[in-house]
Amino acid sequence: MAIRKIAQLGHPILRRVADPVTAEVLASAGFQALIDDLIETQRDADGAGIAAPQVHESLRVCVMEVKANPRYPSLPAIPLTVLVNPVITPLVPVPPAPGQAIVMYEGCLSVVGLRGRVRRPRHVRVRALGRHGESVELEFVGPPAAVVQHECDHLDGVLFVDRAEPGSLLFLREFERFVPPADRLIDEGA
Ligand code: NI
Repeated sequence: MAIRKIAQLGHPILRRVADPVTAEVLASAGFQALIDDLIETQRDADGAGIAAPQVHESLRVCVMEVKANPRYPSLPAIPLTVLVNPVITPLVPVPPAPGQAIVMYEGCLSVVGLRGRVRRPRHVRVRALGRHGESVELEFVGPPAAVVQHECDHLDGVLFVDRAEPGSLLFLREFERFVPPADRLIDEGA
């Protein structure tokens, strides 16, 4: 296992549409090592999740995990989840109607120091493969729905800064000074 270097905003690999993981790749030792490295890298960086393009591997795999996270103290726990070739289906209209959105100041390990307010569907289904090729079908409601959409966006070359509401981007220090805790994460459906 190894902590890998995280690509930063501007690196072209973050803008590629990542390649699907084939059965052959999935079964390889190198791919299993990549998953272990994603987990170790995101834990080291206090991430809520990380996607393979962020460690310079253009493959459709991401991991998520939240325990008590100092970067996102208001996020509920998310068990360790590995998603290979994930496909997201929103279970509310897109864009979400009032009452059906999660509105969160997101950050990203590839956009260090910046936060921005992103409004996303608060209920999604994800179909994917697990790390050993098993079928996975999960539903995410509330803040974890924002996290999984953020991670899967990475696989399509999309970053939260592309989705942030105009005028909402700010640096972490200013976020902590000027955005009241009650405004940092709003689950309209809660
Ligand atoms: Ni990110």
